Amino acid sequence: MLCDNYGRVITSLRISITKRCNLNCIYCHQEGDDFEPLREISPGTISRTVTAAAGFGVKKVKFSGGEPLMRSDFEDIIAMLPPLKDISATTNGVLLARRATSLASSGLDRVNISLPALDKENYAKLTGSSLAFPRVLEGISAAIDAGLTPIKLNMVLLKGINDERIEDAIHFVSGYEGNVILQLIELMNFKNIAGYMVDIDRIEKLLESKASCIKERQLHRRKKYFIDGVEVELVRPIDNSGFCANCNRLRLTSSGKLKPCLMRNDNLVEIGENATVWEIGEMLKRTVEKREPYYKDKLKQTICRA
Ligand code: 5AD
Repeated sequence: MLCDNYGRVITSLRISITKRCNLNCIYCHQEGDDFEPLREISPGTISRTVTAAAGFGVKKVKFSGGEPLMRSDFEDIIAMLPPLKDISATTNGVLLARRATSLASSGLDRVNISLPALDKENYAKLTGSSLAFPRVLEGISAAIDAGLTPIKLNMVLLKGINDERIEDAIHFVSGYEGNVILQLIELMNFKNIAGYMVDIDRIEKLLESKASCIKERQLHRRKKYFIDGVEVELVRPIDNSGFCANCNRLRLTSSGKLKPCLMRNDNLVEIGENATVWEIGEMLKRTVEKREPYYKDKLKQTICRA
């Protein structure tokens, strides 16, 4: 078992497989990966790392980027993994329609799709692409047809873009008849875009007033609201000591470094292309030793990028 000095057991691995992306979102945190070189981790190293982690009880893997579908070998990467309980990917969905079926047959269980706006004008303003919006909608439908469900639609809350349209978003998701969960995410201000920050307490109150049932997930102390047959999850990473207290994930960067925390870049462990499963197991133990909750208390902390 991989357990850190704060009693947090690692059960999930989040792997960035590329920092390349076909969109240029104004808010993107790039998985804390912007300092990384372009060199990309090989399928073999990914597979050995997951095998080592699975040996310690890790059951879930989530792939992200950049945009993971920028890698043409993504299906091969998935097919090389040892058996796991849950293999998912976070994608912007632009390239998904063509590959949903091949991804599912490689072993991908489900996808999270980023959808920060509900109309193509705002989508273009946020992502820099005026053509992508309809392709993402096609991607969502293709993912449902391929069985990559439940799909989570990730909507980062942005003032003036979607904060007044939460009910529209719920209505939009209800059209997918139970295959889609709406995930509302508090903006982490990595890129000097404080003007887009939303008052999350207001959103929380709105959801509370509409919900027929509310549940709390242990992971990140996330609340789930059930509204008009739609499951809505609110992710509050900022100033949330519960966010860190229950964090059970370790990260792997696109160039092959183990990363104990999204918020820090000063404590990475480089794997190296030739490391064996056993050696990677030792590195995993060393990385877990370095884990510390970033939000240790409720004091206001600004995001510090080492
Ligand atoms: N704040 C919060 N969430 C973010 N994401 C990307 N950038 C940010 C940010 N600054 C989320 C998006 C995307 C996922 C990979 O990370 O929802 O779907």
